[in-house]
Amino acid sequence: MSDLLIKGGVLVDGEGRRQADVLISNSKFEKVGEKLDPSEGCRVIDAKGLYVLPGMIDAHTHYHLVSRGTVTADSFPEGSRCAAFGGVTTVVDFADHDKRVSLLDSAKIRLAEMSGGMADDYALHEGVYGMKDDIGLELEHLKDFGVSAIKLFTTYKNVGYMIDNPEELDRLFSYCKDLKILVCVHCEADDLIQKINGSWTGTYLPKDHALLRPAEVEAKGIQIVGELALKHHMPLYIVHLSSAKGLAVVRDLRSRGAKLVVETTPHYLFLDRSKLEGPEGPLYVMTPPLRDKEDNLALQGALCNGEIQNVATDHCSFTYSQKLESNDCRTIYPGIPGSEELFVLLHTFAVRTGRLAVEKAVQMVTENPAKSFGIYPKKGAIKPGSDADAVLFDPNENWTITNSNIHSASGYSAYNGFQVTGKVRMTIRRGEILVENGQYLGHPGEGIFLKAATSQAYR
Ligand code: URP
Ligand code: ZN
Ligand code: ZN
Repeated sequence: MSDLLIKGGVLVDGEGRRQADVLISNSKFEKVGEKLDPSEGCRVIDAKGLYVLPGMIDAHTHYHLVSRGTVTADSFPEGSRCAAFGGVTTVVDFADHDKRVSLLDSAKIRLAEMSGGMADDYALHEGVYGMKDDIGLELEHLKDFGVSAIKLFTTYKNVGYMIDNPEELDRLFSYCKDLKILVCVHCEADDLIQKINGSWTGTYLPKDHALLRPAEVEAKGIQIVGELALKHHMPLYIVHLSSAKGLAVVRDLRSRGAKLVVETTPHYLFLDRSKLEGPEGPLYVMTPPLRDKEDNLALQGALCNGEIQNVATDHCSFTYSQKLESNDCRTIYPGIPGSEELFVLLHTFAVRTGRLAVEKAVQMVTENPAKSFGIYPKKGAIKPGSDADAVLFDPNENWTITNSNIHSASGYSAYNGFQVTGKVRMTIRRGEILVENGQYLGHPGEGIFLKAATSQAYR
């Protein structure tokens, strides 16, 4: 691998924007500074007019999710490929809890599947769907191995994802606090969902998904786990915040001392539930459901004022035909693709509208998730010694997202027809070029597992 010198660009990271050249050697950033000279045999990359960004982190993906008798469209190679086209060089994916084995073995099974397919680097959070007597020991082994975050659901009781017993949940939080494991939660209160469903006399069209799992459900879910985090004086990571009501609970918990890290996704920022109407409604079904325009605006406000720290995608892709197999919101496969569109949407609708500084937007998809998930400064930074993950981004190119120019194997984009500004010109992962001139140069299996240290949320 030859050295690379990225010359003449504007380096943008959490610290700001500055003119700087970046020298890459042996898969690491070697030097960052003005007017650097190339080393011998070094390839010089002209970055004039471009932003030079740290490789992005999509901290919430479900590549190759086997669920509901099917499998998602983007397996590890396809997920890595579309992510790389969007400037993403690292993902934090997720292991379903296989209750027949220990948490560590459950994580190892997932990693064995990922290792041959991923071209992006990857960290992992382990789902925990049930308690065993020796769970404390299992969690300790998991953390020692390099999985420092777990994922819980306050819903999906019917498919066995939810820890239903409040005492068990309390005990789990206590173990995680002691071990400094970050608890990440999909917050929707299952009992409220059941209650709403029990008295429902309406249809089950895609649009009804939003009414069957309304924002109150999210608010209650956040309340439940937020109170536990407060009780145990421990941080908590809220995944995919979707609503103004959920945000109000976040605010209240924080005002009472809770340390919450909040993630949202582009679809909750920029899509609303009108998308669920009509024949293509199933394409927009995910959980939690899309909300109202007012919710979009509330989340955009929270993004711009710092109440939301991380933006990730919850990439969970099904093909166009898989999605349209059913028009019943109870059986439509939930989830949408999104890794590729992550940054360009933030850039277009938050940065270019003048509401969010570009360095803040970059921070939310690089430094902040790296700190949350214990992989900083190896990832999420352009600093000497960090992994040489970088993106050359043209902030001025206007283009339109279409179903055919996005690379997910799903064959569609939830943002089809969106006019956007900003284009990834080159993606570099550990000094190797993954995307250049619209060509993908990555290979399945090149990605490495990132052992996560303790989340900085515990600091
Ligand atoms: O609908 C979604 N989001 N599917 C992925 C799994 C989850 O709930 O995060
Ligand atoms: Zn979720
Ligand atoms: Zn998810």
